[in-house]
Amino acid sequence: MDKFVIRGGNPLLGTVRISGAKNAALPAMAAALLTEEPVILENIPQVRDIETTRKLLAAMGGEVELGYGRAQHRSTICCRDLTSPEASYELVKTMRASTLVLGPLLARCGRARVSLPGGCAIGARPIDLHIKGLERLGANINQEHGYVEASAKRLKGAEIVFEKITVTGTEDLLMAATLADGETLLQNCAREPEVVDLADLLNKMGAKIEGAGTTTIHVTGVEKLRGAKHRIIPDRIEAATFIIAGALTDGDLNVCGCDPNHLGALLEKLQDVGIKTKHTSDAVRVEGNQNLKAADVITEEYPGFPTDLQAQYMALATQAEGTSIITENIFENRFMHALEMGRMGAHIKIEGHRAVVRGRTLLSGAAVLASDLRASASLVLAALVAEGETIIDRVYHIDRGYENIEEKLRGVGAQIRRIGEILPKKK
Ligand code: EPU
Repeated sequence: MDKFVIRGGNPLLGTVRISGAKNAALPAMAAALLTEEPVILENIPQVRDIETTRKLLAAMGGEVELGYGRAQHRSTICCRDLTSPEASYELVKTMRASTLVLGPLLARCGRARVSLPGGCAIGARPIDLHIKGLERLGANINQEHGYVEASAKRLKGAEIVFEKITVTGTEDLLMAATLADGETLLQNCAREPEVVDLADLLNKMGAKIEGAGTTTIHVTGVEKLRGAKHRIIPDRIEAATFIIAGALTDGDLNVCGCDPNHLGALLEKLQDVGIKTKHTSDAVRVEGNQNLKAADVITEEYPGFPTDLQAQYMALATQAEGTSIITENIFENRFMHALEMGRMGAHIKIEGHRAVVRGRTLLSGAAVLASDLRASASLVLAALVAEGETIIDRVYHIDRGYENIEEKLRGVGAQIRRIGEILPKKK
């Protein structure tokens, strides 16, 4: 298993380019299941979850070409013949977003068999809202042997009110509704930019969707969807991670190729912390500050402060003067990184859904363990300001969602290298 070795203390200076959004690329790839024609996706990030999705679609009979060389961020997906509309436990257990294929498979093939996701390091990952929604569209659903088995001759449009806001739930139902018979009204929808990006792609494929990005989405079902070409939006969480890195290391960083409109909650919070940012239409420049002030954060659905930035913000809070209270409202168990930061000298107390961070503390390099994707990113951030060397184990988590993070960080002055496991010598 690879590890990162990071020596802290360098300010990050220069320009870093942001990749396409993993959480927009995953539903876009699933959307290709809805048509027999090729779907061309640009700005696909080179991360492990994309490779997992390629395997998932290939196992169903889809042809997925992931580009290389100059075309490395382009993918052409053709799902002409879907021989096996099934998502196996082997793939779903490594990537819960695999359940995004449920709606499209059901709509296109009239049946689907998808493994239940169970839980993961950040808590339970139920899909009851996906299932209830598909049942409202007329699907027959059984759960057996850890799998969801769904069937429907043709889905029928309906009114669906999500009891709770769910990002992939909204995306799954949105995809299913495009091929349903008649009108579908989805209420209490997620408003994340990734939902809007998916709706843009689906509309290019011939779907009739209005209202994506608001709480109510209206879909008029069509008989067939066609192929399309689409550019994935920039990754707002990767951009935000680098912005926090620039702020934290007292650097001067130009984070380019991002969409500042998607970063409102973070940029506002950084002002409270005392960090100055300037932005153009596709870049944010952040300048560090030695006198960070504590500010509380509550994670919420978009446009609120993202749960996917809670861990990275915690690294920043350890360097701010005063006490920051960080409340996690989306997932039940997303504070594993706090314990690891504690090993580096941070003062963090967990009280249920709240973490109380007392700054400012001198962090010192230590051996730490990454527990999930965003937790790994937060440990990288903490390591960038820690005294001495930090070794982060299980960085395969970070490879799921950050493209070449060590190269990007090295390019702006960080001391970071990847090491593989050293195997004992054979006798
Ligand atoms: N929920 C239910 N029932 C459901 C679905 C969700 O109770 O059927 C609950 C969840 O347990 C959670 C809340 O609703 O408490 C929100 O979960 P949501 O469904 O919105 O999460 P998700 O769609 O599984 C996506 C992102 C996550 C991100 C969350 C929240 C993708 C592929 N994943 O997950 O991204 O944290 O939305 O914004 O889009 C990451 O990238 O590191 C990551 C975990």
